[in-house]
Amino acid sequence: MQEKLRIAVQKSGRLSEDSLKLLKECGIGVPNGNNQLKINAENFDAEILFLRDDDIPEYVQDGVADIGFVGENVMLEKNKATDIVERLGYGKCRLSIALPKTRKKLAIKDLDGMKIATSYPFILNKWLKQNKIKADIHVISGSVEIAPRIGLADAICDLVSSGSTLFSNELYEFETILKSEAVLISGKKLSPARKQLLEKLLFRIRAVKKAKY
Ligand code: PRP
Ligand code: ZN
Ligand code: MG
Repeated sequence: MQEKLRIAVQKSGRLSEDSLKLLKECGIGVPNGNNQLKINAENFDAEILFLRDDDIPEYVQDGVADIGFVGENVMLEKNKATDIVERLGYGKCRLSIALPKTRKKLAIKDLDGMKIATSYPFILNKWLKQNKIKADIHVISGSVEIAPRIGLADAICDLVSSGSTLFSNELYEFETILKSEAVLISGKKLSPARKQLLEKLLFRIRAVKKAKY
């Protein structure tokens, strides 16, 4: 039996639509699967797995999926054994530290001793260390932007795209600690047949990118 390339895509979220669109532009059809977790692609030896983005790096590391479309922010945060095989140019956003508007412009050093709420403890901790700041990281999995208002934290570290979430929560972007975009990641132990399928896909992705810019 012909091996299939198992491709992980975010089930629903900021990268889902653009990732499926890119596959389509590569000539790979993804039929509407009524919420199926796994579906056979059309015109390509591939299976699409619809997963939570936060789970994709681990699935790719463990070989449950061969490759995955994921935000660089998620890839770096999860710190799994995967490689970036292509930067994709969409899903651009940044991971930033934000403060309540009522706090005047501070210096980076003033973050010392603050409590910072985030879903990105690994990346934030690394940045704090590099900047020799001792802050207290409070991990929450969502709705980080409300943490200062309810007295849970002094600051937040979260994704910013349009800036409207910060704006409507009376926060301002204080410092960007990471710039991110969608990337294609691969596991380290693909079979020769799957490697060949990945090469074929990469060739098409690069052609699509070339045609665009
Ligand atoms: C991110 C982030 C903010 C929002 C920022 O959440 O947590 O809530 O996007 O975007 P904006 O600057 O355009 O307002 P995301 O949509 O990734 O969902 P999640 O928090 O559930 O992961
Ligand atoms: Zn997420
Ligand atoms: Mg959010």
